[in-house]
Amino acid sequence: MAKQPLRLGVLVSGRGSNLQAIMDHARRGALDAQVAVVVSDVPDAYALERARRAGIPAVAVPRRDYAGKDEFNRAILDHLRSHEADLVVLAGYLRILSNELVDAYQGRIMNIHPSLIPAFCGKGMHGARVHQAALDYGVKVSGVTVHFVENDVDTGPIILQRAVPVEDDDTAETLAQRVLLQEHQVYSEAIQLFAEGRLKVEGRRVCILPA
Ligand code: GRF
Repeated sequence: MAKQPLRLGVLVSGRGSNLQAIMDHARRGALDAQVAVVVSDVPDAYALERARRAGIPAVAVPRRDYAGKDEFNRAILDHLRSHEADLVVLAGYLRILSNELVDAYQGRIMNIHPSLIPAFCGKGMHGARVHQAALDYGVKVSGVTVHFVENDVDTGPIILQRAVPVEDDDTAETLAQRVLLQEHQVYSEAIQLFAEGRLKVEGRRVCILPA
């Protein structure tokens, strides 16, 4: 019997271009995975619309509907479990996961960040702020990082990184655009490596096993 594709539970807060790239790769057969459910803390996130259009279950879990962070995260966890997600993919998800959720999916949560971690990351570093910080610092190279998620922000073992040159006339917007093109490729590559069982975590290092 053919192996079942890896089931992804994707958490989003915004426009969902990374989600779109993952769905497109999966549909084209370039990724041995299927998006099982998309969950958003933002009910009108465009990412949910993208999922619905693709016929994928899309659920809004607004934070304000829950008394505390733990209850809110438990609701998300329930959706991930009921859709039998094997891997949780954070794709522009702006909230910090509860320890319970991280523990429940230990070693099975990925995030993407639009810089070369450990530069320009951590709490509050998201969106245009990341790219503006890179420009303000004057780095010549920025990029993208896909990493496993631990009980802290942007600190888990790094799976893949891609460098993106910074041009003299870059604005936060133009740099973000160029980094985003890389994001759309590298996230699916990381998920594919996970699907193939080729990611071996040794402390902070993630070794990529041969195919
Ligand atoms: C991306 O830049 C990603 O690296 C960061 O949030 C942004 C999400 O963009 N975590 P999109 O919603 O996938 O278009």
